[in-house]
Amino acid sequence: MMNQRSDVLTPAFALEQLDFCKTKVDQLRSRFHDTFPGANTEGLRYPEETENFEWTTSFYSGMLWLLWEHTKDDAYLQSLKPQLESFYERVEKPGYIDTHDLGFLYSLSCGPAMHLLGDERAKAAFIKAADYLKARYFPEAGVIQAWGDLTDPENRGRMIIDCLLNLPLLYQASRVTGDPSYKEIAYRHACQARKYIIRPDHSTYHTYYMDVETGEPRFGRTAQGYSDTSCWARGQSWGVYGFALSYAHTGDKSFLKAACDVLDYFLEHLPEDHICYWDLYFTEGDQPRDSSAAAVVCCGILELLRHLPLTDPKREVYQKALVDMMSSLAQNYTTQDNPEQEGILRHGVYSIPHNRGIDECMIWGDYYYMEALYCLLYGPCCYWL
Ligand code: GLY
Repeated sequence: MMNQRSDVLTPAFALEQLDFCKTKVDQLRSRFHDTFPGANTEGLRYPEETENFEWTTSFYSGMLWLLWEHTKDDAYLQSLKPQLESFYERVEKPGYIDTHDLGFLYSLSCGPAMHLLGDERAKAAFIKAADYLKARYFPEAGVIQAWGDLTDPENRGRMIIDCLLNLPLLYQASRVTGDPSYKEIAYRHACQARKYIIRPDHSTYHTYYMDVETGEPRFGRTAQGYSDTSCWARGQSWGVYGFALSYAHTGDKSFLKAACDVLDYFLEHLPEDHICYWDLYFTEGDQPRDSSAAAVVCCGILELLRHLPLTDPKREVYQKALVDMMSSLAQNYTTQDNPEQEGILRHGVYSIPHNRGIDECMIWGDYYYMEALYCLLYGPCCYWL
C-alpha cells in the first residue's frame, strides 16, 4: 500500500470510488462480450465496436484486469476470455497492427495475462506485438513512427508524445525474452522525445518530425491541440506518466527530471478546480475540460512519488496536486449522480480539431481513473512496469 498518501486519499475513499467504478464496468460487461466499447461515449452510452481495430480497445480489458486483481472474482477472467481471443487474432492480422499503439493495446490485454497468470499464449502475442512495434523504428532518427505506413510522406519519421506509453511493451519484452534490442529502441526513442518534443519552457509538442535519412530534427506540429505552438493537455499528461515510466525501466535520471518538468508546466496551467482544459493554452473560460488527461497525470504523479527522494521538496507539491485532482475528479467529474450514464469520468475530450468526443466520457479516462484508485489502494500495478 502506498505510504505517501495524504489523509484525503484514504483507503476508504479509494475503495468507495473503486466500488462505484465496478458497478459501471459491470454494466458494460452486460453489453460487451467479444465486442468493445468505443473510444468515447455518445450521449450517455459507449457505442459498440465489433472490430478490434482502434487504439482504444484494450482499455476495457485493462479495467477488467484491475477488477479481477481487486476482487479476485473469476467472473472477470471469464469476461476477459473473448477479449483476449480477439487480441490473439489481431496481432496476426495485417492492417490491424500498423500503429505504434500496440503498446496501449497489448500492455493492457495480453500483458497482464502473462504477468499475472503466466499464460504462454498471451506471452507469444505480447512478444509479437513488440516485434511489430520494433519494426516501426528508424535507426538514423532514433524514433518509432507513430501513425500509418512507414513510407507515407505525411507520417514518415513523425513521433508523437503519446508513444511514451507504448514503450513499456518494449522494456518488458526485453525483460521476458532476454533480448536487449527492444529496450535499446525504447530508450533511444525516449531520449529523442525528451530532446525534441519538450520545448525549453517544458510545454510539449504533440508530434515531431525527424528526418529519417539524416537523423536531423525537423519541426513540431500539433494534431489534437489548439495550435502548433500551444500545449495539448493530454499530450502533456502522456509526457508526465510516460517519462516517469521510462525512468522506472532505465534508471536514467534525465527522464525523472523530464517527467517533473512536464508535470510542473501542467500544474502551472490548471484552472481553479484543478482539472485541465483540453489545451493548456486555456486557463479560464468555458472551453471544454479534459478529465482524462487529469486521470493520466494522477497515475504519473503516483509513479513519480515512488521515485523522488523523500527529501525532495517537490514531493509535497505533487502530493497536494494529486489530492486536489483526485478529489475534484471524484466530486465533480464522475457519473455518480447519473446511473444512466455508462462511463465513469465525464467531461473528457477526444479531439476538438476533429470534432470528436467533446464533453463525453473517454474509455481511457475511465481506465486511468481506476488505475489511480487501484494504485492508491495496492501500490503500482504491473501492467506498465
Ligand atoms: N493517443 C491518442 C489520444 O490520446 O487521443
